[in-house]
Amino acid sequence: MLSGRLRAAVAGLAIAVLAGVTPAAAQAAFVKGSPSGGDPYFPKAGNGGYDVSRYNLNLRYQPSVNRLVGKATIRARAKKSLSRFDLDFRHLDIKGLSVHGKRARYARRGQELKITPRHGLRKGSRFDVRVHYHGHPRPVIDPDGSEDGWIPTDDGAFVAGEPQGAPSWFPCNDLLTDKAAYRIRVTVPKGKAAISNGELVKRIVHGRHKTFVWDEEAPMATYLATVTTGNFSVKQPRIDGIPSVVAIDPRESEAAATLARMPAMLKLFATRFGTYPFGTTGGTVDHAPNVGYALETQTRPIYDIAPDSRTVAHELAHQWFGDSVSLRRWHQIWLNEGFATWAEWSWVEHQGGDTTRQTFNRLYAKHGPNDRAFWDPPPADPGGPRNLFVTSIYARGGMALEALRQHVGTQTFFQILRDWARQHAYGNAGTKQFIDLAEADSGQDLGHFFHVWLYRPGKPRGWASSARSLPTDHRSGEGAGRPMAALDQLR
Ligand code: ARG
Ligand code: ZN
Repeated sequence: MLSGRLRAAVAGLAIAVLAGVTPAAAQAAFVKGSPSGGDPYFPKAGNGGYDVSRYNLNLRYQPSVNRLVGKATIRARAKKSLSRFDLDFRHLDIKGLSVHGKRARYARRGQELKITPRHGLRKGSRFDVRVHYHGHPRPVIDPDGSEDGWIPTDDGAFVAGEPQGAPSWFPCNDLLTDKAAYRIRVTVPKGKAAISNGELVKRIVHGRHKTFVWDEEAPMATYLATVTTGNFSVKQPRIDGIPSVVAIDPRESEAAATLARMPAMLKLFATRFGTYPFGTTGGTVDHAPNVGYALETQTRPIYDIAPDSRTVAHELAHQWFGDSVSLRRWHQIWLNEGFATWAEWSWVEHQGGDTTRQTFNRLYAKHGPNDRAFWDPPPADPGGPRNLFVTSIYARGGMALEALRQHVGTQTFFQILRDWARQHAYGNAGTKQFIDLAEADSGQDLGHFFHVWLYRPGKPRGWASSARSLPTDHRSGEGAGRPMAALDQLR
């Protein structure tokens, strides 16, 4: 028999449990979307609970005062029944915000834009978010000290979102795995141009302004979106049969000759990696020397200055590796940079310069085991967002692929690259999927090989020694297990 006090306590507990459970159960259908996309390198970027299918951005930009006015319509689908959800959006002021055409409450904290729609959004339902905003956009400073996002220049802006700059100019779900279609309309003063992704649908002059309408229907990650503005000479050639836009700042006009190599590059890469994945191509060469890098913005890379041909090859190779096949998480960055670097070397070889093997040998001989800055961090484990774009990600990442070519044979190697590009086209994939594919295509256990090249700190050695092969009947075709085949055979 319980004492009076204890009985009261038990009864109280029962009431508390009921009070806690019943109302929640009644509303259990609607939950808050997550403020994080779950990438440990950028935990605040991206959000959970919904999926964007399209961004419709209507922008007006005044370069002389760096003022941007935007109307973004974001079409999304709820993955859970949502009472609230977040977008990523930085600094700019919001004039109005609605969901399904009805004004919605919102709150801002850092880059989180927390939206509470009037009514819950049922799981599976589609909804439109409209954000009307304005202000003076500014770049994001990355963990490595570089700038990305909206970077004002002396005649416009260089807009590059890798890895976290997209929310500096439009509200978005800034997550690698949430790709979407884009319709971007930009109005600038008449003498300026605004170059974005995909097809140039329309150019409209009205009074002292000009509007450029761009359309990219292939799924695109937020960081690959751009609207680079300034003084440009704009041409629309066909490049290897693909409709293109080439925009060059007159101060960088020497770039025209380099960009004229694009047809040869696209041809070379199509034979190696498979069909070019997008409907348009080209390039934008700005005069933005303090940016310090180029970016593989989808369909149309942007260059901060007139690039050399290796850089153009690098950014074009990213269209397969990075843009069509995108990372799942940022620490897998070598799948972008190692691949684009290897492609760059293969372009050099194609031009009659060093072979990829010679490039590998030169780098391997030049950098001893004490040159940790060259070899570390290992490509598949950068150790933090500060190291996303350091030398080893690019060079050792490219060398890992060259070592793979020599290990499995040239034909199998290209089979792997083509299968990678095709199987994950317009999607996302990580290092584990790549290793699995390389093992399946080669019929070899590559665990030790990839451990040495991708994960083990320090100068790689002994990667070929303890590689065990599966029985011959598991091997796939001719290239498997063969030490090496000359690249020339494939030309
Ligand atoms: N993906 C670019 C390239 O290799 C580099 C981007 C660097 N971005 C940065 N914020 N530092 O072509
Ligand atoms: Zn790159």
